[in-house]
Amino acid sequence: MSGQRTDRPFSESSADSARADAPDIEFVEATKRFGEVVAVDRVSLSIEKGAFFSFLGPSGCGKTTSLRLIAGFEQPSEGAVYIGGISVVGVPPHKRPVNMVFQHYALFPHMTVSDNIGYGLRQRAPKPPRAEIAARVDETLEMVRLSGYGKRRIWELSGGEQQRVALARALINQPTVLLLDEPLAALDRKLRREMQIELQTLQRDVGITFVLVTHDQEEALSMSDRICIMRDGGIVQTGSPRDLYDEPINRYVADFVGKTNFFTGEVVETDGSKVSVRTGSGAVLKGRKATGARPLAPGNHASIAVRPELIVVGPAQASSIEADVTVAGQVKNRIFLGEHTEYLIATEGFGDVLVLSPKIVESRQGSFSPGEAVTIGWKNETALALEDS
Ligand SMILES: Nc1ncnc2c1ncn2[C@@H]1O[C@H](COP(=O)(O)OP(=O)(O)OP(=O)(O)O)[C@@H](O)[C@H]1O
Ligand SMILES: [Mg+2]
Repeated sequence: MSGQRTDRPFSESSADSARADAPDIEFVEATKRFGEVVAVDRVSLSIEKGAFFSFLGPSGCGKTTSLRLIAGFEQPSEGAVYIGGISVVGVPPHKRPVNMVFQHYALFPHMTVSDNIGYGLRQRAPKPPRAEIAARVDETLEMVRLSGYGKRRIWELSGGEQQRVALARALINQPTVLLLDEPLAALDRKLRREMQIELQTLQRDVGITFVLVTHDQEEALSMSDRICIMRDGGIVQTGSPRDLYDEPINRYVADFVGKTNFFTGEVVETDGSKVSVRTGSGAVLKGRKATGARPLAPGNHASIAVRPELIVVGPAQASSIEADVTVAGQVKNRIFLGEHTEYLIATEGFGDVLVLSPKIVESRQGSFSPGEAVTIGWKNETALALEDS
């Protein structure tokens, strides 16, 4: 990949000569310190052209700082950042082919929608002709489905419409990369879902690279092609939503992406990718090492992880379910969620276990009520053995 990079300084003319085969964004051992704090810690990553890429992680893990390194609001303390294969270290934000949409979108409330969107173009020297600005504003309004809203004031818009104006204001500059820092955080759940779909459609239509920061795993999973899971300034795992869900390399990732049951203990035996873990209750459970995870050895702290949708629940007679591991339990809680029912099952030795039972199974065997005795079970091949970290 290094053959695609150059340390030639970035300039507007070199933006045109950016290597067509280079990734849009590349970090090479990039570190950002603020005094004692290491906000971004030796991060290397690459974001392909046209990707929908997300940074996901808890508060303070370095997501915004990573985005600001791309935008040019911060410079790396060590390492390098490349855009289109060209080093942008030292290049100011306005000379980079990127635009950022902030969490608090900072629109000018007294200006019309059109004036907000055209603001950046009017500040350019030389200033483009009025007719050109008007045409570009109209085109961008259409892109975010706000045609006809140009003359409205910002305070006359709903939250979702304001969000779209903020997007339009960034898109009018025709950036190669659009950076979005928790852009939907201010919206209510329903509007958020609608905007997620709109953002995805917009990204597909305009074909530019989107880099999103979020701490909402559902948002990252549903929208992104690739997700980078961060912790304490570093990357824990990068992959497609499916990779991260099915092959999390450790407990941190599995815990962050979707819901999982963890049965914690110590590795007692390994055989290739098969791992046996003795849990606190003394039971030995089997699981498979995830693809890409570090090997486990006897004595390591590890968890057997089983997703709730991979556990079956049946009547108290254990013979009723097909499984390698069966555990007796009692329904502690039941939540009806439409397409499936979520059970919390109290067990002896395995704690409370979350189970998602699909509608098709419920309609066959009926559902179980709180207090009822049940059996739960799963197949060994559905369980993962994960490093506890
Ligand atoms: N300008 C700054 N000066 C000092 N420390 C900073 C500065 N900016 C960020 N930090 C620190 O760097 C770390 C990473 O911050 P960052 O804003 O990147 O986190 P984040 O992942 O975006 O978190 P959040 O989800 O809360 O927005 C934090 O510990 C933060 O306190
Ligand atoms: Mg942030």
